[in-house]
Amino acid sequence: MNSSKVRQEFLNFFKQRGHQIVPSSSLIPTDPSVLFTTAGMQQFKEYFLGKPSSYGKRVTSCQKCFRTSDIEEVGNNRHLTFLEMLGNFSFGDYFKEGAIKYAMEFLVDVLEIKKERLWITVFKGIEKPQIIPKDLESEEVWQILGIPKTRIFEFGMEENFWGPTGEEGPCGPTTEIHYDLTGRACKKGRKCIPNCDCGRFVELWNLVFNEYYQSPKKELSSLKQKGVDTGMGLERLAMVVQGKSSVYEADLFEPIIKEIEKISSISYKLKAKNYRIIADHIKGAVFLISEGIFPSNVERGYILRRILRRIIRHGRVLNLQKNFSIPLAKKVIEIYQDIYPEVRSKETDILTVIQNEEEKFEKTLEKGLKIFEKVAAKGDISGIDAFHLFDTYGFPIELTQELAKEKKLKVDVKGFKEAFERHREISRAGMEKKFGGVGKEAGYQAAKLHTATHLLQAALREILGQSVKQMGSDINPQRLRFDFSHPQKMTDEEIKKVEDLVNQKIKEDLKIKKEEMKYEEAIKSGALAFFKEKYPEIVTVYSINNFSKEICAGPHVKRTSELGKFKIVKEEGLGAGLRRIRAILE
Ligand code: ALA
Repeated sequence: MNSSKVRQEFLNFFKQRGHQIVPSSSLIPTDPSVLFTTAGMQQFKEYFLGKPSSYGKRVTSCQKCFRTSDIEEVGNNRHLTFLEMLGNFSFGDYFKEGAIKYAMEFLVDVLEIKKERLWITVFKGIEKPQIIPKDLESEEVWQILGIPKTRIFEFGMEENFWGPTGEEGPCGPTTEIHYDLTGRACKKGRKCIPNCDCGRFVELWNLVFNEYYQSPKKELSSLKQKGVDTGMGLERLAMVVQGKSSVYEADLFEPIIKEIEKISSISYKLKAKNYRIIADHIKGAVFLISEGIFPSNVERGYILRRILRRIIRHGRVLNLQKNFSIPLAKKVIEIYQDIYPEVRSKETDILTVIQNEEEKFEKTLEKGLKIFEKVAAKGDISGIDAFHLFDTYGFPIELTQELAKEKKLKVDVKGFKEAFERHREISRAGMEKKFGGVGKEAGYQAAKLHTATHLLQAALREILGQSVKQMGSDINPQRLRFDFSHPQKMTDEEIKKVEDLVNQKIKEDLKIKKEEMKYEEAIKSGALAFFKEKYPEIVTVYSINNFSKEICAGPHVKRTSELGKFKIVKEEGLGAGLRRIRAILE
């Protein structure tokens, strides 16, 4: 059965049993204390806490999730960063018995998975720091449904207690269904049981019984209403249903692996781990970018940058040629476009961002690796060296750690962080000097260049077409830099036309109008928004007649005539579909 069918069968099964199907929420959660959506229950969090659910007491979903917690494990047969989580949820409706019966019925009766291959774990209870009793009920239900006691194991908080996500929320004991892939114990013999890391078992389905509320101080209290939150990775389920021994050989990954094989001189068999890391990460990158995340040095953008750079590093090992990520990203889009149309509609952004990052890193990776080799020859990596690799060669600290680990060396992460902070303070002081109180003149110059950037974007769109889109910009008191999407080099004539149009608007002495409005209203009124992950509800819109209208935080000058003369000094390519203009005001 292919995974589209598995996904559909799951949702239908629960729909037929009174659950409303709810679409996946975004990978960017509304809860500000977590970076990504990591579980299906996140969008329903408050319903577990007693708020009446707008979908009724029973719901089911297939949720896009992104987890960094398993990133080190990616490369084995079952761990992933991006995954789809199938789940059924009850808010004060059925509880343990109901949830376990549904799970068993779906796996064994609908998917015809062999019951003898299912092994179970349950919560063994704790006494400190407070008493949480052992889950006898689940154990009993499993036995009634035909799982012998010899395949039921007890674990503690680490393995069989789940939640909350973020700083507070619902949580509770869990019972997990593990699938025995090989039927053979590893060298641990009879100790090879679920949660053994040999790869024999795969945790298939986690059933969480939300009975507790954990406060920000980490104290547990009983919830008024009991709930069920379950999660089963679709990729793992597909692997089991399709009789494969790793998620990468089942149909949500196999086409990507095949695509890599086409362009690599080294086979999957020889270098499975590198293949898998690339396949997993490219999928994660496609989905993160489709949600408007852009590579950067902080938070979500940093994670994206980290996985993109990891792809390139492992691509090296497989002798992959420049820009190899593009066909792989296209494959990901092909696999998911029917279920998640955003990957198709954002295709240009996705490919541009990936290619841009790849080209940026390609330039420094080689040199950085040489520097790393030199430093590593001396032994453990100091904080200063790790920072140098980061700052000059774009090596995320995790990459340096990964390389060091291969040589059994340590990295002074604390020293790295100190160097990082010191550097940040220095550059902050530098920025203030550039734009801040130090020189009003510099601040005014920046405002002029900001306004010039808006005129430039409007002129480019008029001369080259409305498909031109801002992909980045940077201003210092001397010049502006503007990156935009456009498939080919601009001709001299086009450059001249753009320049003339901007200068004409400067001459017209137009007023720059500043308004505040709701983001949706701004977009509806035709204001351009720079591709950015999240705008506040109320935004500032700057318009210049009906020539330019953009959401922007400013600063800007009052009238265009203040700008003087606009001149494009350079137009260059940054990779397929991306151009850069440098311009000055004379
Ligand atoms: N919320 C549970 C999990 O993510 C089901 O494992």
